[in-house]
Amino acid sequence: MTGYREENKLIMDKNAPIGVFDSGVGGLTVAREIMRQIPNERIVYFGDTARVPYGSKSKDNIIKFSRQIIRFLQTENVKAIVIACNTASALALDEMQQEFDLPILGVVKPGAKVAVETTANKRIGLIGTEANIRSGVYTRYIKSLDDEAKVFEKACPLFVPLVEEGWLHDDITLQVASRYLEELKDTLIMGCTHYPLIRSTIRKVMGDKVNLVNPAYETAIELKNLLERDNLANKCDVDSPSSMYRFYVSDAEEKFKLFANSILPFDITMTKQINIENY
Ligand code: DGL
Repeated sequence: MTGYREENKLIMDKNAPIGVFDSGVGGLTVAREIMRQIPNERIVYFGDTARVPYGSKSKDNIIKFSRQIIRFLQTENVKAIVIACNTASALALDEMQQEFDLPILGVVKPGAKVAVETTANKRIGLIGTEANIRSGVYTRYIKSLDDEAKVFEKACPLFVPLVEEGWLHDDITLQVASRYLEELKDTLIMGCTHYPLIRSTIRKVMGDKVNLVNPAYETAIELKNLLERDNLANKCDVDSPSSMYRFYVSDAEEKFKLFANSILPFDITMTKQINIENY
């Protein structure tokens, strides 16, 4: 364990990595935003490729999976954790914050907050997985920030497989997006790790005027602020990606690597498969 308590304050090693986890590859959109905005932080990424998708799972299972992953990340001595998965952030963040004694951030609150701050007419569209939308967590949080805000929710389950198939700029993706998004005309929260990868298709359907919110971007800002506030920011020089970042998966290493290399600004050379059920 990286941290220890001193007069009830948690003291962590600033050099320790940030743990970032997701149901699979999608959370790499959050990891790459952290890499871009806070390049001197080390990252240990875990993608739960054996149990993806979380978007169709129950709350109990998502909590169990998140708990196992955080236990694993603790063995990697992380100083803080980012739940990159929107679905796990919506369904498991509160429980994980109560159970574990280290800073844990999700992507829902940062995304919701910026949508409330930037909407011109208090009308906010929200797209995400079925479990995420069903939970109502994003909407409740938006309403707690501004009770006059109106939230228009839409689950878009086909987007995840389309992105994983690599059909980012395909006509089929455009058709699916037109169907899903036809009633959403205002500020839109892309409430799923995969959606920023089809941002240009979403933009085509929504038009230039709509404000597209990427929670990954806001989460990286929030993480940076948290590390500075808690005196946890790593002041070391930036090293090569292979020494700054480690990648773990629960299955299908090669597929993960291919996807990662298509969206990260560098090629990852090593991923390691672990049995997450052991944690
Ligand atoms: N990572 C999930 C999310 O952001 C999408 C993929 C899944 O359903 O597991 O909600």
